[in-house]
Amino acid sequence: MRIMLAPMEGVVEHHVRDILTRIGGLDGCVTEFIRVTDQKLPYKVFYKYAQELESDCKTPNGTPVRVQLLGSKPEPMAINAQELVNYGAKAIDLNFGCPAKTVNAHEGGACLLRTPDRVYAIIKAVRDAVPRAIPVTAKIRLGFEDRSSYMDNARAVEAAGADELTVHARSKVDGYKPPAYWHYIADIRAELKIPVVGNGEIWTVEDYLRCREQSGGADVMLGRGLLACPDLARQIKAHVQGEDYTPLTWAEICAMLYRYYALTTPLYCERNCGNRVKQWLMYLSRQYPQATVFFEAIKRKTTPPEIEACFQEALAASH
Ligand SMILES: Cc1cc2nc3c(=O)[nH]c(=O)nc-3n(C[C@H](O)[C@H](O)[C@H](O)COP(=O)(O)O)c2cc1C
Repeated sequence: MRIMLAPMEGVVEHHVRDILTRIGGLDGCVTEFIRVTDQKLPYKVFYKYAQELESDCKTPNGTPVRVQLLGSKPEPMAINAQELVNYGAKAIDLNFGCPAKTVNAHEGGACLLRTPDRVYAIIKAVRDAVPRAIPVTAKIRLGFEDRSSYMDNARAVEAAGADELTVHARSKVDGYKPPAYWHYIADIRAELKIPVVGNGEIWTVEDYLRCREQSGGADVMLGRGLLACPDLARQIKAHVQGEDYTPLTWAEICAMLYRYYALTTPLYCERNCGNRVKQWLMYLSRQYPQATVFFEAIKRKTTPPEIEACFQEALAASH
């Protein structure tokens, strides 16, 4: 059983990967996507998204990190994958699920699922360009307009030589609207020989158990569920392994968020300094009522002293 942290553009950067992997239960992470057009990208772009390139492609607690590329042209994708490996990447993940309009307008992300032969061509080019020892993995949705092409795309991924497939069990048009259609993953698992990882709409241990039952597989990738409940992977593993585990308290979560704030404050201009914390609080609100209260207090605060004061109040109240 493996649990991976999902890539989430604009949310899961290396600090979040560090914080979440330290909590435990995670077997791997994927970076936010790095957009490839025609150019060979410079190291600074790769490094911006994958700072773990400087630390053996692992988070500080030793969890492996795959670097994700998104693009529609096989040759530039292959060249950049090769370049990434030269810079130390240990695994390359390819994105075929992004629903963003700008990305799809350039024929990247989920719109490639309309043409499984293009999915094949991109993966094949990347697979041929990087050494066999470097895993090349792919992440797809079940289709673009609808879910009818899911098996064609899954077969294309395997035929092109990918080492693993993650399936976000919805089409592009399904967006992020519940439910996730986990039973399609069972069909894919029955057909493919490579490992298949299930993804989408796992917020609780009970969701994990239902996903495992419907998808027929124990391996999952968690995205928003881990932001809402940062120790969800630990809770799932403790439950499955029959171990005692006490979920994190709000006081622990609040302290974690403050660490994140302290780490990331220097990275953003003053005006944006609280934005990432506010974004995370929105996810946490789903699981912790105290996060809603904290969010209401902080949402209009913009300066570092105001945000600091909000934190001190929330930290004091959390005990
Ligand atoms: C804000 C946001 C950003 C995302 N960015 C990426 C990305 O960069 N690459 C990718 O493959 N998927 C991306 N996804 C999709 C997630 O990896 C995941 O497939 C999706 O959220 C469903 O899983 P969940 O229900 O566990 O969140 C993103 C999702 C969200 C909500």
